[in-house]
Formats: sequence, structure tokens, C-alpha cells
Amino acid sequence: MLRLLIPLSGLAVVLAGQIPVRNGVIGGVSETPAPIVEKTATKPLVTTPGALRVVENSGVCETTPGVFQASGYGDLTSTESIFFWYFNARNDPDTAPLSLWFNGGPVGVGFSHGTMSVGTSLEAAADVWSFLQIFFKDSRFADLATRKLAIWTESYGGHYGPTFAAYFLSQNAAIAAGTITGIPLNLQVLGVGDGLTDPISQYPGYITYAGSNPYHTLVSASEISSANKSFNTASTGCKARIEACNAGGSNTVCSNAQSTCNNNILSPLSGNWDVYYTIETTVGAEVTWEETNDNVYDNFAATGDWMRSSLPDLELVINSGVRVLIYDGDADYILNFDGVEAMIASLNTSFSAEFNKQTFTPFHVDGLLAGPYKNAGTFSYVRIYGAGHEVPAYKNGSLATGQAAFQFFSQIMANESLSST
Ligand SMILES: *[C@@H]1O[C@H](CO)[C@@H](O)[C@H](O)[C@H]1NC(C)=O
Ligand SMILES: *[C@@H]1O[C@H](CO)[C@@H](O)[C@H](O)[C@H]1NC(C)=O
Ligand SMILES: *[C@@H]1O[C@H](CO)[C@@H](O)[C@H](O)[C@H]1NC(C)=O
Ligand SMILES: *[C@@H]1O[C@H](CO)[C@@H](O)[C@H](O)[C@H]1NC(C)=O
Repeated sequence: MLRLLIPLSGLAVVLAGQIPVRNGVIGGVSETPAPIVEKTATKPLVTTPGALRVVENSGVCETTPGVFQASGYGDLTSTESIFFWYFNARNDPDTAPLSLWFNGGPVGVGFSHGTMSVGTSLEAAADVWSFLQIFFKDSRFADLATRKLAIWTESYGGHYGPTFAAYFLSQNAAIAAGTITGIPLNLQVLGVGDGLTDPISQYPGYITYAGSNPYHTLVSASEISSANKSFNTASTGCKARIEACNAGGSNTVCSNAQSTCNNNILSPLSGNWDVYYTIETTVGAEVTWEETNDNVYDNFAATGDWMRSSLPDLELVINSGVRVLIYDGDADYILNFDGVEAMIASLNTSFSAEFNKQTFTPFHVDGLLAGPYKNAGTFSYVRIYGAGHEVPAYKNGSLATGQAAFQFFSQIMANESLSST
């Protein structure tokens, strides 16, 4: 079993509703972004820049007797504090690897607080690296610094995961070269679920998935056709705007791409369906969002970070030998498998040729069919049947909730390719 570290957000309570709605548009861009303010703590506090403030064994969440847990803040500065929640491994805590879980947000989301000026995934990566330096310096956690380290993330983590991993590797190289000082991070695994990594390859997935998916169409043929037309409109369409953004476009260019694409493609093609789980509920524009932070979301929307591709970072991480798993629930619309599989097909890595020429193999979990998968070198992909946006939170037929996710997580953490059991 693994130990788990959850920086940044109160993850344990977060299940769905990742993407804010602006002017009725899912993932829209505010015309009047929230002003940057400092999110202050609810009671007076004394920060300890460069050190942790920790509550041990609060009794919340981990209820197994004798299993250590700790939660608290890593103070990057006197005005920026990152919340974390650490759980010791229930088995073999002296040797278990350390897994980081992120489901979104830099400083300012979840229980973190401080000046909410972070606006890009790269800025968030630098904050998280600084947090880990503080974490591993603490005597309670110092012995974890040399353990195998994994990053697991989902959703906007399709940006964060590759960006954080690539940043950790570049900091390790800088430490080795003596250009900076710091604790090297023993990163060996990256897992990304239902992630937004590369808009240009992923946005056509909304058009495909809305018209044809394992469950039902989401909107009418004419709505699909008009979204497709809008996607392909020369110079002002979604495709042209994403291309302009990724050809060195300014924040405005990228932010305009986000608003064009989400106004005309992502939002309308969801119809009245729950964008995170298209099997059941029809909530459409009623999707609410409570777990994010408006300031941080608006900062990211203003830089157009959403539309900037993290594909080069993902390629770098795969080529560096870090074991990488991409997974996706087939009932998720918002980061649907059509888009994610197109993104994977567009990767140019040392394993891509081998991956692209293979056909899918059924992933069995205790003899039960969970979905199709492929491995190539240390890269793997699995699609999970019946799962929405937060893959481990769903069940499929006689497979229990999270059963398939536990198998792929365990295999990848053991540095094994995926295989059926
Ligand atoms: C979208 O438009 C493109 C370009 O006109 C066309 O090739 C494609 O078949 C269309 N797709 C759908 C789903 O209408
Ligand atoms: C793939 O990457 C290799 C090595 O970096 C490069 O030489 C090649 O041009 C790339 N291919 C494509 C299609 O981008
Ligand atoms: C999971 O769902 C798929 C697709 O609906 C189905 O083919 C498969 O049998 C299901 N697996 C189980 C264990 O029920
Ligand atoms: C993980 O597995 C790969 C492929 O088998 C191997 O090259 C690599 O050395 C392994 N990593 C560790 C830390 O054992």
C-alpha cells in the first residue's frame, strides 16, 4: 500500500464539478474577471515562511488505528500558504512510495490561502516544487525524500501533471549541474485521468462524442453540424484560434480561443447532460461549481492557460523514462476518450510508433471486463467502461466502485505495465 500526499486542496471531499461556468458557458471567460484579492485565513495566524505548520492525527478521514496522518500548511512566503493532507501507508510505511494527488488549483483553492496571482500551470509548478522542498525538510517527512515519487492527477491536471513533472525533472537537472540548490525529487510515475492536455487534438472529440458515444447522442445532428462549422471557420473559428494561441499567441489570443471554443463547442454540445457523467442526469447549464476559486480560475482564463498545449511537456516526461499512465472514463463528456485518444495518437515519443500500431486488449479485473488498454514501453493507456470524470468513483456491472482504478494504480505504482488479472 502507498502513502499519499494531497497538496493544495481538500481533495477528499471533491467528487465532481471541476470547471466553472461563466455567463452560462462551461469553462467560459469572464468579461469582468474577479479582482485579485488576498484570500485570508478565517482566524488570525502566524505564518512560518519556509516551514510547515502541521496538525498530526486530527482523527478526520484516516480512522485506521495507528496509521499516521498529518495536515496543515507549507508557507511559501508570509502571504502564500499551500494546504496539504498527508496519509501514511497502512502497510509498509517505512518503504512505501509517496504519491501526490492533485485535482486542480494552485495557491488559493481548497483550503490554501494567500495572494491569488497564480495564472499559469508553470507558475503553479514552481509553487508546488517549493512546497515539496519545505515538506521534505521537515523532520517528520525527511525520510520520504528518497522514496519513489509519483504524481497522480486528473481533469485540468492534464496540464498540471505534465508541467509539474517536466518542471521537477528540470529542477533535478539544475540541482545536479549545481546551478541551484535543493532536494532532488525522485519522480518515477505520472498518472493522468480524464485530462485536458492538448486542445487542438482534443476539441474535435466534443464533436465526435456528442454525436456518437457508448450511451446516447447528446444533442441534435444540426447542433453538431453547426458546432463543427464553427470549429472549422477560417481565422476566427475554434481551431484557428487554438492554433494561433499555440504559435506563440499572447494571453489575449489564448483567452479568446478559450471563450470561442467553450462558447461554441464545449458548452452547447453537452446539451442537457451532466458533462461529467453522460449516462444519467440531465443537469446541463445547472452544473454548479463550489470547489474552485473564482480569482484563480479567472487568472487562468485571462492567460488562456487552458488553450496552451502541455503536449511537449508530456512527451518530455514520457521520453525521460518516467512511467506514464493516461486513463479515461468512457461516460465522461468534458474530457472524453475520443479527445484523449486523439491526443495520445498525436504524441511523438520513443514509444508512439509502437503504441499507435497496436490494437486494444481487454483489461480484465478479477476476470471482469473493465475496458480496453494498450502498453508501449513505459507508457500505458486504459479506457474504463461506465466511468465518469472521476474514474475511481464509479462502478460498472459487477465490478465494485474503484476496483478497476485500484488495479491500474497498483500496477503502475509497482512499475509494471498494465495487465489483466
Ligand atoms: C466537420 O467538418 C469537417 C470539415 O468540413 C468535415 O470533414 C467533417 O466530416 C465534419 N464532421 C462532422 C461530425 O460533421
Ligand atoms: C518526432 O520527434 C523527433 C525527435 O525529436 C523529430 O526528429 C521528428 O521530426 C518528430 N516528428 C514529428 C512528426 O514531429
Ligand atoms: C462494463 O461495461 C461494459 C460496457 O457496457 C460491458 O461490456 C462490460 O461487460 C461491463 N463489465 C462488467 C464487469 O459488468
Ligand atoms: C521500471 O521499469 C522500466 C521498464 O521495465 C525499467 O527500465 C526501469 O528501470 C524500472 N524502474 C525502476 C526504478 O526499477
